[in-house]
Amino acid sequence: MSSYPRARIDLSALTHNLAQVRHHAPHSRIWAVVKANAYGHGMVRVAQALTAADGLAVARIDEALHLRTHGITLPILVLEGCADHEALAAALAARLTLGLHGAAQIERLAAQIHQASFPVAVWLKVDTGMHRLGVALSDVPALIERLRALAPKVQLEGLMTHLANADCPDDPRNAQQCQTLQQLAAAFGLPLNIGNSGGILALNAARTEWVRPGIMLYGGSPFDHCSAHELGLRPVMTLESRLIARHHFERGAAIGYGGTYRCPESMPVGVVAIGYGDGYPRHAPTGTPVLIHGQRVPLIGRVSMDMISVDLRLAPQAQPGDRVVLWGQGLPVEDIAALVGTINYELLCRLSPRVTLA
Ligand SMILES: Cc1ncc(COP(=O)(O)O)c(C=O)c1O
Repeated sequence: MSSYPRARIDLSALTHNLAQVRHHAPHSRIWAVVKANAYGHGMVRVAQALTAADGLAVARIDEALHLRTHGITLPILVLEGCADHEALAAALAARLTLGLHGAAQIERLAAQIHQASFPVAVWLKVDTGMHRLGVALSDVPALIERLRALAPKVQLEGLMTHLANADCPDDPRNAQQCQTLQQLAAAFGLPLNIGNSGGILALNAARTEWVRPGIMLYGGSPFDHCSAHELGLRPVMTLESRLIARHHFERGAAIGYGGTYRCPESMPVGVVAIGYGDGYPRHAPTGTPVLIHGQRVPLIGRVSMDMISVDLRLAPQAQPGDRVVLWGQGLPVEDIAALVGTINYELLCRLSPRVTLA
């Protein structure tokens, strides 16, 4: 029995996109970002396919431990580092690479470093303008000194920062952030780790010794002004379901909750097994396309928990059982995201567990 809805994961597209990262940043080493269940694509499976990456990056310690439990041996960078003693003990035992974004994390590491049976690799996260995580610029020299005093048990691998405006490559704040970190790194002789997808694709200064691509690995564009296809990326996820009913309604028939859509004429209407309970966006408006037999047909009326209705006038041959694509190959997730006022990242990440990854 094949279960629907399902997200088909194309691992050859994933390796193609990783090669695109190498193409744009040929001198960089790559932390492939697989947090949030690899942006909804299945973290373990994606990690197993990313053998050509230099390491994997996750947000949280639990994500890293999950990868280790499943036999992933690549270096794993925990971007947020450890929030308490227990997490740090687990991280040391699992040989994780730690992001450090504050003096408290550094002191905790100093206090527990005796638990480590090998040198612990760390990256100091610096706040160069994002004002989310990272140590203040004025604190950097003292913290570097503190970390260097913990050598050889602690190995400071370099400085990292996150760009707040990489989705707008022309924004001058990108260059400022890069320059700020470059100056610090030069002063202390340390490697840099800056570029996310937007930086890798469009900002030379962000193609540093290490980079951290996320969305581009999954075939998503980080930009509004440029499609994933134009960037040479291939979608890894295709979200698909099936038509489970077909009706013929007369002019004026009201479709679904609230009857917000009325049939303008006598017409075929299909029902597709996907809804907000699966992570399909409830705010997708009438007109949002789905693909049936390669033809874009519009969603009509409100999205329910388990179903949507579609106007079948452009696919009159469609029958119950037929495959319906919600996004992915042939229908960029960016198109759907723009219609519902969100970004591709969110749509990919928020599929619910009842969507099978196939
Ligand atoms: C710290 C950090 N680095 C890298 C990334 C990857 O960014 P992108 O998916 O835009 O490539 C993220 C994503 O949110 C992040 O938070």
